[in-house]
Amino acid sequence: MLNYVLMNSFPSHSGRRLAEARGGGELLKIMIEKKCQKILRRYYKENGSVVSILQDIQEVFGYIPEETVFWFSKRLNIPASNFYGVVTFYAQFYLKPRGKNIITACCGTACHVKGSEAMINRIRADLAVAEGEDTTHDGKFTVENVACVGACSIAPVLIVNKKVYGNMSSDKASIKLKEFEKSKSR
Ligand code: FES
Repeated sequence: MLNYVLMNSFPSHSGRRLAEARGGGELLKIMIEKKCQKILRRYYKENGSVVSILQDIQEVFGYIPEETVFWFSKRLNIPASNFYGVVTFYAQFYLKPRGKNIITACCGTACHVKGSEAMINRIRADLAVAEGEDTTHDGKFTVENVACVGACSIAPVLIVNKKVYGNMSSDKASIKLKEFEKSKSR
């Protein structure tokens, strides 16, 4: 999955070279090293912090790959546990790659009462999200749950790439996703 993320994080020609590196691993390592060195230089120049390093890592990779945490831990002599402490404290950081499109289903009380669980299960089934995973195998979608988003009057609520849809149902969500996928393939 890191290969996939890297492919989509760099200019297209670099991405293609990374794709070609799939399986070899050496080019991938070099690319990670290059990106981390750049973040490290910025850290020294701007007198950065663990948080700023993590923000930069996420900006580049889309999430916090384990390799990068150990890379910085070694160079800065900061225990990896310090990085993980910050990552798990702030909701803004992700330890797993996220999809290109984010489907967020509200699981607050009002939405739950009106069937959000069935809706999420339907979305996951439609997108073939594997058991125990949040992101589709091709990296196109991440399906996540959140607590009340403050729109209980239109529960259950579904958010597709920050666009809010209210009064949803399993069927409506399924149709909405099909429309969304169709619009993206045009
Ligand atoms: S519980 Fe879903 S918007 Fe409040």
